[in-house]
Amino acid sequence: MSKGTRAKYVVGNWKMNQTLDQVNSFFCDLYDLKADCHIWIAPQSVHIAPSIKATENSAFKIGGQNCCEHNNGAFTGEVSPHALKDLGAEFVIIGHSERREIYGESHALLNAKVRKALDNNLTVIFCIGETLEQRESDSTNTVLANQLSQGLKGLGQLSPKQIVIAYEPVWAIGTGKTATPQMAEDAHKFVRSQLSELGLAKDEISILYGGSVKPSNAKELFAQPNIDGGLVGGASLNPNDFKALTELFT
Ligand code: PGA
Repeated sequence: MSKGTRAKYVVGNWKMNQTLDQVNSFFCDLYDLKADCHIWIAPQSVHIAPSIKATENSAFKIGGQNCCEHNNGAFTGEVSPHALKDLGAEFVIIGHSERREIYGESHALLNAKVRKALDNNLTVIFCIGETLEQRESDSTNTVLANQLSQGLKGLGQLSPKQIVIAYEPVWAIGTGKTATPQMAEDAHKFVRSQLSELGLAKDEISILYGGSVKPSNAKELFAQPNIDGGLVGGASLNPNDFKALTELFT
């Protein structure tokens, strides 16, 4: 399967930003947006329900930024994947570098979260990426291979509807520094080769780039043969920038 037939995405990761007014105003501005790519937004969890309501019958799909590895029980403060699905969420981001680094989420925990999210029929956007130190010590590929093999352990039969990979070099997230299109493409190509090592359909699974993506740098990034769209933080908060990113696919 060539790039042309793989699903394309612009996914907004709003992190812990936006007031309810800003959420409603974003979706009001872009309610009629149509694009030749999936347009997905992951608001903070308290804004998932109002976001689903605000995007009813639109092209947007709403998802979570994280979920628990359990469906219910005594896990104060956690977000249940079952409750996400029940609410109408379609996907969940798992393994974002902020979860790995700030909250110390281990490979084993991430694998358990991926499994539970899949059990609930949520599409998983599984994030991987190297730190600057790892890149400078030439261990990028080892790090990526390890994150994939541990995080997706035992999940060889996944379909492209169940899993999307996001390659996000940690040094490019929120820093204004972007990987050059060639650096990103090299990493994506490597990630694709690793998917087949894990028994996954490497040519069918979409791989998104993330890390300071904005309209001014996305065109070249999205044009790379192994890049199927973006996981976008800062620029996705602005409706004009988000729309401009989706227009790169029309
Ligand atoms: P950024 O964030 O676009 O603000 O760098 C991307 C992400 O963390 O998903």
